[in-house]
Order: sequence, then structure tokens, then C-alpha cells
Amino acid sequence: MATKARPQAFDGLAARLFATRRLSRELGAPLTDADATIQPFPDASPAKWHLAHTSWFFETFVLRDFVAGYGPFDERFAYLFNSYYENEGERHPRPKRGMLSRPSLDEIRAWRVHVDHALQAALPSLPPAALDLVELGINHEQQHQELFLTDILAAFAENPLEPAYGTLPVPQIRAVEPLTFVPGREGIVEIGASDSGFAFDAERPRHRVFLAAHAIADRHVTNQEWAEFIADDGYRTPTLWLSDGWARVQQNGIAAPLYWNDDETEFTLAGRRPIDWAAPVAHISHYEADAFAHWAGARLPTEAEWESFAASADPGQGNQLDAAGAVAPQPGAATFGSVWEWTQSAFTPYPGFAPAEGAVGEYNGKFMSGQMVLKGASCATPRGHSRAAYRNFFPPAARWQFTGLRLARDA
Ligand SMILES: [Fe+2]
Repeated sequence: MATKARPQAFDGLAARLFATRRLSRELGAPLTDADATIQPFPDASPAKWHLAHTSWFFETFVLRDFVAGYGPFDERFAYLFNSYYENEGERHPRPKRGMLSRPSLDEIRAWRVHVDHALQAALPSLPPAALDLVELGINHEQQHQELFLTDILAAFAENPLEPAYGTLPVPQIRAVEPLTFVPGREGIVEIGASDSGFAFDAERPRHRVFLAAHAIADRHVTNQEWAEFIADDGYRTPTLWLSDGWARVQQNGIAAPLYWNDDETEFTLAGRRPIDWAAPVAHISHYEADAFAHWAGARLPTEAEWESFAASADPGQGNQLDAAGAVAPQPGAATFGSVWEWTQSAFTPYPGFAPAEGAVGEYNGKFMSGQMVLKGASCATPRGHSRAAYRNFFPPAARWQFTGLRLARDA
């Protein structure tokens, strides 16, 4: 193997692997050990845990399984940093991740260096099956980079001192572009990832679906439009809401997006800032998105309508994560970026779906219950990570991600 010329694709893989590992390290650089240890609520994880768990993924599925003689950095870490892989045995309970004051952030950083060096040494001689897992590990770590930022935002939002993770320019006062509905494709279309290139198992197989006549908005719903929904008693009008959503709103006193304050400011990764009225609304649940759509005389798109709409858009364009630092939704009409878009589609298997082989078969398939599909990408999604076929998913009540919406309607 070492005597043959390495294919270009291999060099590309290695470059992306170490760029991804470096970005995670840089995302963690502004944090103190205490910042990186706290867990704001059970569904969000400490920053330190994200930095550790992504190393556990490579150490377990690549180094342990494919590199003879590899010694784990600390054999106790497998229990602490396995997320949900039953095949990998017992693990520390998710709601107690914030109790892990040890190992320290510096020890986790040292583990990352240990894993990086081992990957660097092993990469040229890894078999194709291991290189596929390296690719999966890169995409997995990119998902955790987004969670890292949304979880730090949630953690800092709990602190009355309103700490800033980074800086952002003050929003400019900008007029919102009028919203236009464009006709969607009608009839039989294909959705899902093709067989070439990386995709998660849940995006396959590519298959045909039927789209009824419909139209879809050419941009996201903005904060300004959300303020009109609030002013029109949107949160107090039960007929707009799904029953589960109305119950949530009542029980939790929800009356605005998650990080809005009463004084027309919102909490962001750059601390408290004036709400950017022209920017896409973010940090709303599926229930809120659905109620807004009804209020607007529209509905949420299906995932097939969204994917068909986005098929000709460039997923590399738009407001996405390029470097460590604070991010926020920005005004603009790019299809990918700023906020993930709730759809009305449940996260269920495509016809012919087959989970990935081996332990990583637990990656997506076992979550196909009680979750809604989100499409696009957000300001915290590493650029290059998403695509039209991508299926992000969260429970309908989740609000701490950069989640927004785009309207659709029957034609
Ligand atoms: Fe994970």
C-alpha cells in the first residue's frame, strides 16, 4: 500500500479530517474548563463532552477496530463518552454529562492530540472499510461542531452575566425583501441521495415520490414577520395550533422565540443584541413553525417539496460555519444557511432503507420515531456538510437549535 501512489481522493480525505479536527479544537479555545463542563439541560451536552465524544468515535470505530496494537488514551473514557451505542456497552447517563468535572478540558485536549497522531500514522494503510468510517467520523464531528455551538449558547443563556462566546457585528437596519411564492415541481420526482459520494444511511435509497401542485416561498420567515404573529396574538389563539403544541405553549409559558427578551433584544453567541428584524427567525419549535404557517394562510413544506425546490441550489452558498467564532442568522435569500427549516414530514425510513453495517448501524435508524425532518443548513453548520438530500431531525418541541421555517402552500 505504502509503495503505491495514493489516490487524490485519499489526500482529500486526510486534509478534510485534520481540518475538521482543527476546527473543533479552535471552537473550544475561548472556553474555560467550567464553561466546557456545564450542561444546561439533559438534551444538550457540555462542550468538553463534544470534544471528547468525537475522539471516542475515531478511537473506537477506526483505531481500535483497524489498527493493530493501538492503545486507548484512557480505557475508562469509553464508558464516559459513548453516546448511545448499545453495541459498545454501558455508558454514563446522558442527563449527568454535566457532572464530569474530571477529566479536565486539558486532558480532553491531550486525548485529541493522541487520537490525531494515531490517525495520521494509520491513515495510509487503512483498508477501504476503515476509510469509509473516517469519512463518517468527519461528518459525525461536523454535526457535533454545530451542537457544540448551540449547546454553548444554551449554557451561556442560563447565566445572568450573559457571557459572550465571541463577537458579531451589530445588526444593520434593513428592509425585508417581499416574500414570493414560486411554483414547485408537480408529479413524480426523485428524492434521496444517489449512490455516489458520502451520505448518511437515512438519506438513501434515492426513490420516486409524487408531488401535488404546490408553491414554496423564496425565502425564510423573518423576525419581523414573527413579531407580527406575536402582535396578532398568535401564541394565544388555540385554533392555530396542533394539540401537542398548544399544550406545550400553555405548560411552559412560551410567547416568543427561545432567546428573545421583552426589550426587543435577543441572547446570541455574542451576548445580548438588538433583534435583527430582517434576519430569519430562529429557535422556534416545529409546533411554533406550524402555528405560524397556519396564521399566514400557508403550511410547512414536505421534505420532498423542499428537496425538489433546493435541488438546483448550491449547498455551499449561504450563511454557514467557516471558522471558529460566534455565528447568527443573517438576512439573505440563500436556500442553505442561517436556519434549518422545519418540514411537515416525520423522520421515517425511505422505501428500501437499510441501516449502515456494524455498530454504526445505530447512527440514524433507531431514532425514526417522534422526530420531524429539517432541511437546509444553519449558520452553525460547517460549510460543505449539508446537501439537498440531507435529513436533519429533532423532536417537534426542540427549540435550542438554529431552527426556522419557509412557507409552502397548495396551488
Ligand atoms: Fe455523536
